[in-house]
Amino acid sequence: MKRIIVISLILLMLPVFAVIGQQKEVNLYGSAEVRTIEYLAQQYEKETGVRVNWIRLSSGETLAKLRAESANPQGDVWWGGTTDPHSIAALEGLTEDYKPSIYDEIDPRFRDPLGNGSVIGVYVGALGFSVNKKLLDKMGLPVPKGWEDLLDPRYKGLIGVANINTSGTALTTLATQIFRLGEDEGMEYMKKLHANISNYTKSGSAPGILAGRGEIAIAIIFLHDSIYHAEQGYPVIPVAPVEGTGFEIGAVNLIAGAPNPEEAKKFIDWVISAKTQEGLGSVGSYQIPTNINAKVPDVAIPIDEVNTVDYDFNWVAENGTRIMDRWTREVFVLPR
Ligand code: F6P
Repeated sequence: MKRIIVISLILLMLPVFAVIGQQKEVNLYGSAEVRTIEYLAQQYEKETGVRVNWIRLSSGETLAKLRAESANPQGDVWWGGTTDPHSIAALEGLTEDYKPSIYDEIDPRFRDPLGNGSVIGVYVGALGFSVNKKLLDKMGLPVPKGWEDLLDPRYKGLIGVANINTSGTALTTLATQIFRLGEDEGMEYMKKLHANISNYTKSGSAPGILAGRGEIAIAIIFLHDSIYHAEQGYPVIPVAPVEGTGFEIGAVNLIAGAPNPEEAKKFIDWVISAKTQEGLGSVGSYQIPTNINAKVPDVAIPIDEVNTVDYDFNWVAENGTRIMDRWTREVFVLPR
């Protein structure tokens, strides 16, 4: 009888032990480089003991995932990737507004790209080219100085960029042409550029590796990625287009209907802190931090030193899906 009572008591206590021992966790969707997401996850686990379940997907892929999961959200936080797909997600109600506890520490120019509190800026970077000069020298070709140079038929098959439907970098590339030239002219530009493209990759930075290996000569990528590739020993140089270029405000967002919303908010506060943003340089993430107290990596290119176009984040939020479809129908299908 005594044994039955003891066993019953243990069985009664089991759910209590289960709750006490329950591991806190946060599900992170990351859209910067794998090494960066992995660094954030490991640091957060080390500092807080909270388990971070993470995956890396390009910005457009993450938007597609959020749409697919909207009836049953699986992610808590979306960190990294360009503002544009984040802002489209916010408009579609796939993310929720959250004001971080240290909002005042974020540079006012970058903390709220849409001006309505729906996207939080975590880093900044300018778009440009990563050029394998060694290869171009060997081919007797000049280093392109700007967007119009890329249309030179001598670069046919030598240029790489990511696919607009998967990559935020590529959507920034398309929007840049629209802000530089107008929508129809921008599409015409993309058609001419298409004739010189070797291949479209899924991830935004991937063409930089192809340029580094000499499989192509020119990659359209963010300049901070080019700097990292050069540091890794690839013979590439970053080039900021002379006509003016687009830029990203990398973003973080709370996913609507997140299974762990309180953990998500704590994680967002943490990624905004100066200490966390500063740490990213240690894994070769050379974007400009948005926290005003974070040290900028020595090798980073200050955004004020780049000639930028008037990038209208609200216009892309409202027109992004439409121009992606338009590019797919009018440009991507054309023979090369
Ligand atoms: O390498 C990091 C990075 O360039 C980020 O600065 C940017 O937000 C992200 O990649 C974009 O990736 P993708 O183009 O694959 O969406």
